[in-house]
Amino acid sequence: MPDTLPELLALPAALAAVAAGLWAWRHFHPVSFWYVLAYPLTAIGIRASWRKVALGCGLTKKRQRFWWTITPAALVSTGTVKVRRTFRRVAVDTKPWMWLPLPTRYGWRVTLRLLEGQIPADYSEAAERLAHSWGVHAVRVSSDKPGRIRLNVTIHDPLIRVDQIPPSPDLLKVTVGRLETGGAWLIDFTTVPHWINAGATQSGKSNLANALLVGLAPQPVALVGFDLKGGVEFTPYTPRLSALATSRSECSDLLADLIALMIGRMGQCRTAGARNIWQLPPADRPVPIVVLVDELAELYLMADKSEKDEIARISTALLRIAQLGRAFGIYLFCSGQRISSELGPGVTALRAQCSGRICHRVNDPETATMTLGDLDPSALDSARAIPAEKPGVAIVAHQDGQWYRARSFYIPEKTAEQAAHAYAHLTPDWADICAETKIPA
Ligand SMILES: Nc1ncnc2c1ncn2[C@@H]1O[C@H](COP(=O)(O)OP(=O)(O)OP(=O)(O)O)[C@@H](O)[C@H]1O
Ligand SMILES: [Mg+2]
Repeated sequence: MPDTLPELLALPAALAAVAAGLWAWRHFHPVSFWYVLAYPLTAIGIRASWRKVALGCGLTKKRQRFWWTITPAALVSTGTVKVRRTFRRVAVDTKPWMWLPLPTRYGWRVTLRLLEGQIPADYSEAAERLAHSWGVHAVRVSSDKPGRIRLNVTIHDPLIRVDQIPPSPDLLKVTVGRLETGGAWLIDFTTVPHWINAGATQSGKSNLANALLVGLAPQPVALVGFDLKGGVEFTPYTPRLSALATSRSECSDLLADLIALMIGRMGQCRTAGARNIWQLPPADRPVPIVVLVDELAELYLMADKSEKDEIARISTALLRIAQLGRAFGIYLFCSGQRISSELGPGVTALRAQCSGRICHRVNDPETATMTLGDLDPSALDSARAIPAEKPGVAIVAHQDGQWYRARSFYIPEKTAEQAAHAYAHLTPDWADICAETKIPA
């Protein structure tokens, strides 16, 4: 028994020193703390509690197994029941087989073997229950092989703060933000040529367009703006824009130019025996054009019948670009609050051609459904759950076929304006672009 004061205090002092050391380790080097200490303990805990968690989340199945069971055998004269242990077939709750959880930067991932009759959607439905049971931010379900699923677990929301926008050196590929997995959120026009960017007001649509502009500004591409907010968003970026339309009639004229340009490029490719501009010799290859549209719905809203023809012209031109533009180096990035069928069949057809889908916070389930459409229903739930205090967070249909929560880098207008000025010398002149691909006689 310690009898002096220093001896009495030694144990609490040692415990306090260990606790302070652990706190400092976690605070100053969270990555090594996670991999060395927290992850092994978490993995043991997850494996040890998996039966209970699977049972609670409704992921077990009854199976007939031989099991030692205790059954009442006889009532003896003292009134106590004599029991008998027998080995017999009984229905037992079986949990899905779990591999060893593996650490990731923001949590862990684990592969499970599905039980008979189960499908990945059963786990997507139980994802929220699993997240609460494990006390983590989110559980995402993916399946790359029949009969197996992978749970990707993020402990804390990695999208609370996303760091600085990195340079995007590859042509037509821009890293615009971070995925919830910690990976880069890439908008790659060479793989996915046309994009829909939807979301309620103040959800971060224009910020994403700014990120795209900052990424594309140093590249040898022409940028064209359709700013249906009367030009307030894109006018400051005119030094880097080859053309800007700020009203519906200007858009109609600019689209006519784009269609003529596209037809010219078609002729150029046909003459050279190329299927697209990328098969042309580099010296003859026309400059790729990225068309940024803000407030898409304004192009389709009809106040009176006199606008019908103009809307029809615009709608047809946009659709033609979406259908044929990729081969001739014309790419669309359309932002809008509602991109719904009530705006007319033109919008529905355009939406169908835009395989890149981004859905920021939305007020109504229909907008999420319209934007993300055929994705997994849990993607729609996640889009509706984006809080207003996290602008820039979006659900993204990624090119790997999965959907992800992602957040764009915050690009204030000033930064985008500076980039537009800094790379103004790279802006191709619109008249030159239109002149270079005249339809061959
Ligand atoms: N990724 C982000 N990180 C932090 N803040 C952001 C981010 N994206 C947007 N914001 C903030 O949200 C505000 C609204 O963003 P933005 O203007 O892009 O919304 P919007 O969807 O274009 O709205 P509107 O429909 O009204 O044009 C911005 O001023 C900015 O402060
Ligand atoms: Mg906006």
